[in-house]
Amino acid sequence: MTFLWIFEFLLVAGVFFADVLPLRDVLLTIEPKVVQRSSHSTLRCSYDLRNNTLYSVKWYRGRYEFYRYTPSDSPKTKVFPVRGINVDVHNSNSTQVVLRDIDFIVSGNFSCEVTSDGPQFLTGIDTKVMSVVQLPEDLPTIRVEGEPLDYGDILRANCSCPPSRPRATLTFLLNNYTVARSEPLSPRQHQELAWSDLSLELELSEFHFNSGRLILQCIAEMEDIYREEAVLKLGSVRDPVPERVSAFSDATSISSEAALRLVVIINILLMLT
Ligand SMILES: *[C@@H]1O[C@H](CO)[C@@H](O)[C@H](O)[C@H]1NC(C)=O
Ligand SMILES: *[C@@H]1O[C@H](CO)[C@@H](O)[C@H](O)[C@H]1NC(C)=O
Ligand SMILES: *[C@@H]1O[C@H](CO)[C@@H](O)[C@H](O)[C@H]1NC(C)=O
Ligand SMILES: *[C@@H]1O[C@H](CO)[C@@H](O)[C@H](O)[C@H]1NC(C)=O
Ligand SMILES: *[C@@H]1O[C@H](CO)[C@@H](O)[C@H](O)[C@H]1NC(C)=O
Repeated sequence: MTFLWIFEFLLVAGVFFADVLPLRDVLLTIEPKVVQRSSHSTLRCSYDLRNNTLYSVKWYRGRYEFYRYTPSDSPKTKVFPVRGINVDVHNSNSTQVVLRDIDFIVSGNFSCEVTSDGPQFLTGIDTKVMSVVQLPEDLPTIRVEGEPLDYGDILRANCSCPPSRPRATLTFLLNNYTVARSEPLSPRQHQELAWSDLSLELELSEFHFNSGRLILQCIAEMEDIYREEAVLKLGSVRDPVPERVSAFSDATSISSEAALRLVVIINILLMLT
């Protein structure tokens, strides 16, 4: 009896698959696809049914369906509970879904699956990745010891960037040369919000001084979505231009840092397509 059952199932499945043609032009776009935690994102599904009528558009996070649009049903839309997913039903329809108040657990694969019901049965699916991040709430900061600096001195500096997820990668540049860089993180370390810190200990030689000047930059980056930098003009005894630096040189590192920061570039870009 069981065999018969399986046989029937295969027969039905075979007929079903034979009649369903692929719908090749289903295209999912997620905007933004790198989302700041607690904000929202719009998922658009475009498709061309080629004179067929729409049967349904199903939306999945991983394997779990969270939203379905079926024009022949009443109501046309159904929302299925999936942890962390908040569908904004008023702004969702047959071609888009808006998600609100997005949390970290929502990161992952999203799919839209389109099916037509006649005259041809067509079905197509597209999948894209959404990642949820937390940008640092403040700028990176630099602390330096030992100013004013001369040939042979050890430059000791720390750069730190407030908590983010993933943790920001830090790079120190001295007169535009990279002198230190934080280790890239393994994906496992993306799990929590974390400060990012980088220490620099560098014996200075004549080579490091750009006609006497020392400009130290710390760049904080998160993939393509975030880049900020702190820039500090260090006190240098070789600087030909008499400077205010010496006036601050015995102040604490914090106040000297605040006074001497030359440029802070805030450049937050949300990744496109
Ligand atoms: C759609 O239908 C129109 C009119 O019935 C026909 O001219 C056109 O070729 C059809 N398009 C496709 C892609 O089948
Ligand atoms: C779905 O809603 C968006 C935004 O309101 C709108 O631009 C789009 O045309 C709608 N799609 C359909 C098929 O009505
Ligand atoms: C997304 O899909 C790809 C390819 O199917 C798979 O390798 C990856 O593990 C999936 N990612 C998640 C977070 O499920
Ligand atoms: C840099 O950080 C280390 C470790 O936290 C600390 O011991 C050192 O004093 C710091 N240096 C500066 C210049 O702040
Ligand atoms: C670093 O490079 C920028 C542009 O590439 C240039 O304007 C600047 O003068 C350079 N700074 C130093 C200290 O060499």
